[in-house]
Amino acid sequence: MMNAAGVACMTVEELEGVKNSAAGTFVTKTATLEFRQGNPEPRYQDVPLGSINSMGLPNNGLDYYLDYLLDLQEKEPNRTFFLSLVGMSPEETHTILKKVQESDFRGLTELNLSCPNVPGKPQIAYDFETTDRILSEVFEYFTKPLGIKLPPYFDIVHFDQAAAIFNKYPLKFVNCVNSIGNGLYIEDESVVIRPKNGFGGIGGEYIKPTALANVHAFYQRLNPEIQIIGTGGVLTGRDAFEHILCGASMVQVGTTLHKEGVGAFDRITNELKEIMTEKGYESLEDFRGKLNYID
Ligand code: DHB
Repeated sequence: MMNAAGVACMTVEELEGVKNSAAGTFVTKTATLEFRQGNPEPRYQDVPLGSINSMGLPNNGLDYYLDYLLDLQEKEPNRTFFLSLVGMSPEETHTILKKVQESDFRGLTELNLSCPNVPGKPQIAYDFETTDRILSEVFEYFTKPLGIKLPPYFDIVHFDQAAAIFNKYPLKFVNCVNSIGNGLYIEDESVVIRPKNGFGGIGGEYIKPTALANVHAFYQRLNPEIQIIGTGGVLTGRDAFEHILCGASMVQVGTTLHKEGVGAFDRITNELKEIMTEKGYESLEDFRGKLNYID
């Protein structure tokens, strides 16, 4: 279990909080080459069944996160951490990834192909041609372990087309899913976040069925060397159990972590262990991917 990128990962203080919790690891806030202020506030709102956000990629810039991770890997050589990144253009993405390639970073890199909140910039992963081109260019020089963060897909043909592209590359993982993009939450007669007239990415309880469908669709289609990170709608140990049943090797917690703080990792882990004990499962391998169908 770990945080989902965007939650509790903007500053070193927040990252230390996740690191020192029951989480197995953390991922840093998606970094661009330079510091970004992001969109005007209010830009994140917890709501009863989840959350809505249009942060606009605020972050401290690649060097901030990379310097911290380089320092940390000397102090904690037996742990592995995730660096999330994306450029504001394909060129910037390559500049960033080349910096990571040339650095001593030994962790996992997550290329975020699914940021829905920067005005005028569509999500890369909804454009299959661009996605394929970027990945083919990246793997010409990038030799460290790399995975991608994906938005939810909603059509079986899109699962097929996306998986056919991802299977061409030596990806270490795909992370399903980012928020469901561009929802609208209304209170009384008003939106609840300022950017984009209230449109924002939806997380939390709302998105679990979509998240599970994406985890399982890619589990069914991807080469077994590509592991799946399950993200979306994890409030309880039962939710984490379902992600693993659908094929997840790791589970991320976003909205719930924002609502509850890092104590969520301990609670969810204990709830998951209790379910496993009840069912007589001793390891995750006993049930990972073993979702039952009705004949
Ligand atoms: C932001 C939101 C995302 O869902 C994401 O993947 C990256 C950035 C943001 O608005 O900051």
